[in-house]
Parts: sequence; C-alpha cells; structure tokens
Amino acid sequence: MSLYRKLLLRLHPFKTLQDDYITRLQGSVGGAGMLHPGNVYAFNYALRRLPETGAVLEIGSFAGLSANVISWLLRKHQAETRLFFCCDPWVYDGYHDVSRKEDPEYLEYFEGCAHVTREAYTNFIRESFMRNTQLFSKGFLPHAFHLTSDAFFDAWHEKRMLTDVFHAPVTLGGPLAFVYVDGDHSYEQASRDVEHALKHLVPGGFLLLDDSADFWKYGSVRLARELKRRKGLELVMKNPNYLFVKR
Ligand SMILES: C[S@@+](CC[C@H](N)C(=O)[O-])C[C@H]1O[C@@H](n2cnc3c(N)ncnc32)[C@H](O)[C@@H]1O
Repeated sequence: MSLYRKLLLRLHPFKTLQDDYITRLQGSVGGAGMLHPGNVYAFNYALRRLPETGAVLEIGSFAGLSANVISWLLRKHQAETRLFFCCDPWVYDGYHDVSRKEDPEYLEYFEGCAHVTREAYTNFIRESFMRNTQLFSKGFLPHAFHLTSDAFFDAWHEKRMLTDVFHAPVTLGGPLAFVYVDGDHSYEQASRDVEHALKHLVPGGFLLLDDSADFWKYGSVRLARELKRRKGLELVMKNPNYLFVKR
C-alpha cells in the first residue's frame, strides 16, 4: 500500500463489507471506480433494516454495478419482494465541457477522440447496464427507466404506468424505503432529487447521498451538510458519504 493511501485511510477511515460475490462483481462490471466501497457497507446497513413498506430506488445507474450490488444484497437479506427501481438518462459529461463549450469536436466525441462518438459511448453504457443486470440480477431485474430523475419523479408522483427498459410494465408511485442518489451531483439537481425522495420516503426509510464526503468538492457535499441540520432526518453514518434515516 502506498504511503499516500495509508495517509488517506488514516484521515478518512471507513467501514467496508466483505462479500465474495461483490468482490467478483466489481471486477466484472464497469464503473468500479464510481462505487465507493463505503457505499456498499452503507447499502448493506440500510437494506438489512428496511422499514416494512416501500420500494428501493437508485438514481444514476451507469453500467449497473451499484444496481447489481443492491439487488444482490436484497436477495441476500431475503427482500426480493421489494420493488426495485432505477433511472438514468445515460448522458455523458466530458471533463472539459465547460472550458471547451465552443469546441464542437470536443462536444461530439468521447474526450474529443474522433473514433468514439458520445452517442456510441452512451448507447454502449446503456446496453452494458442491460446485459450486466440481465446476468447478475437474473430473476430479480430492477425496473429501470431511461429517464432523468426529474422525469422519473414526475411519473412517480402521477402514479403512471410505464414500461421499463426490459419491456416490463409497472405502475410507479407509492412509498419509498431506500433511495440512493447518484445521478447529477450538482447542488441544484441533487437537492431536487433529495426533496423528491423525501416526499415519498417512509419513516425509518434511508437516503444515501453519493459524493457527499466532507473531502469532496461536489454540490452534494454542501447539500449533505444542510441535511444534517434538517429536522426529521438523522445522520446514521458518514462512511465517508452521508447515510440518513427519516424519523
Ligand atoms: C456516477 S454514475 C452512477 C454510477 C452507478 N451508480 C454505479 O455505482 O454503478 C452517474 C450516472 O448518473 C447519470 N445521470 C446524470 N444526470 C442524471 C439525472 N438528471 N438523473 C438521473 N441520472 C443522471 C449519468 O448518466 C451516469 O450514468
């Protein structure tokens, strides 16, 4: 282990979950760098303690790693009767979109490299999500929607009946027991996601905010600090991202 990693661990220690299935899964599904191991511990904590009613929702699925971890943990804790929903518009943000907003080449291609268009890349990630979940969540596929979280919550509030990406019809709406917020991490969007989630979260339900650890610089960090002071929400852990329970 490098000295830097040792120092980082000392500064930001967090708990991890030892689970052979998840270890293999992380080596098999893209996006491992996006799923903090502390989140896996927090998933397990929350999914073992779910309130009696309510569905599980993931905002931002990418290639399906966290969705597969969640479905595995629900399976492991005999909670397969829970409805599990995901949403993702499968968009691509380049590292330099702001500074190169006048550069159409950069904006069309994957990091500006002309052999991979952004469209081909996002189609690939969506297809990867489908193949990965069809393999690892077989028999317990999430109801996944190619939608932004705003569009998803509109449909949720209106209790619309929709067909998911696997062609399964389902009626949206009702209580939520666990929400994982991992879509657009800007303060504005993450705040909207949390407000929408809290409207439906039942007492005893959990909310995990990705990229909210104190040492990051995302909008979700500011949001997590605000939520810490919010009445009716209790901080369960910072591992290092914030997990809350609704009281
Ligand atoms: C960090 S990745 C998610 C990683 C995934 N949860 C995992 O750990 O395997 C963020 C995802 O959020 C999606 N996203 C961006 N804006 C969104 C929005 N408004 N609503 C829902 N998802 C969004 C992106 O398309 C991307 O796939």
